[in-house]
Amino acid sequence: MKKTALVLILALTGLGLNAQNIKLPEPQKDGGESILKTIAVRQSDRSFKDGDISMQDLSTILWAGFGYSHGDKRTAPTAMNRQDISLYVFTEKGIYLYNAKDNTLELIKKGDYRRDTDRKNGFAGKVTNIAIVSDLEKFDVEKEHHRANIFAAMSAAYVSENMYLAADGMKRNLGTVTRYAAHQEKEVAEILNLGKYQRILLFQTVGYKK
Ligand SMILES: Cc1cc2nc3c(=O)[nH]c(=O)nc-3n(C[C@H](O)[C@H](O)[C@H](O)COP(=O)(O)O)c2cc1C
Repeated sequence: MKKTALVLILALTGLGLNAQNIKLPEPQKDGGESILKTIAVRQSDRSFKDGDISMQDLSTILWAGFGYSHGDKRTAPTAMNRQDISLYVFTEKGIYLYNAKDNTLELIKKGDYRRDTDRKNGFAGKVTNIAIVSDLEKFDVEKEHHRANIFAAMSAAYVSENMYLAADGMKRNLGTVTRYAAHQEKEVAEILNLGKYQRILLFQTVGYKK
């Protein structure tokens, strides 16, 4: 019996099905408002009910932000198709890295760090936040520092806009705002244990509107 359990654990670990990871529901790819009407109502929201968004809605927001659309194509463009963006999700339970290929959340750290993304304004501490991170090494940052930073910021902006459109178009009472991450970047990069050239460009706050 013990041997069977051990084999099962090893098999699951080998498959990447770590117990700490969360399998997300399939993202919603249909329904909601039309894209043009959604553009017409897009706006930033800063007044939310306390609490994280559901896994279903999170899955859709993450997929819209930087999931796979068809084949190896992503839902947002990146310069030279370097696909430099990673999305880190801050929830009450912990911080997770979005694995778009597997549609999973990989646990980075247990605990509630949502407030650490929002020392300044105070409205984002009790809802879901998504750090939009670019890996500047994908843009030859040592040689082309300025260009790498511009490309990273542009990638992040496309991802953020996709999340705005998903939130505002899903008809699920979601609200969102993008926030410049510079004020907290150093502190949050340490929490996430980011590499030297991984930059947090924006925090996307997502919650249910009051
Ligand atoms: C690069 C960027 C950084 C932003 N940073 C913040 C921020 O730190 N805090 C915030 O509340 N809103 C932030 N916003 C949201 C803007 O304030 C908002 O988009 C603007 O006021 C226009 O409002 P709208 O999005 O409702 O059209 C940011 C937007 C962008 C594009």
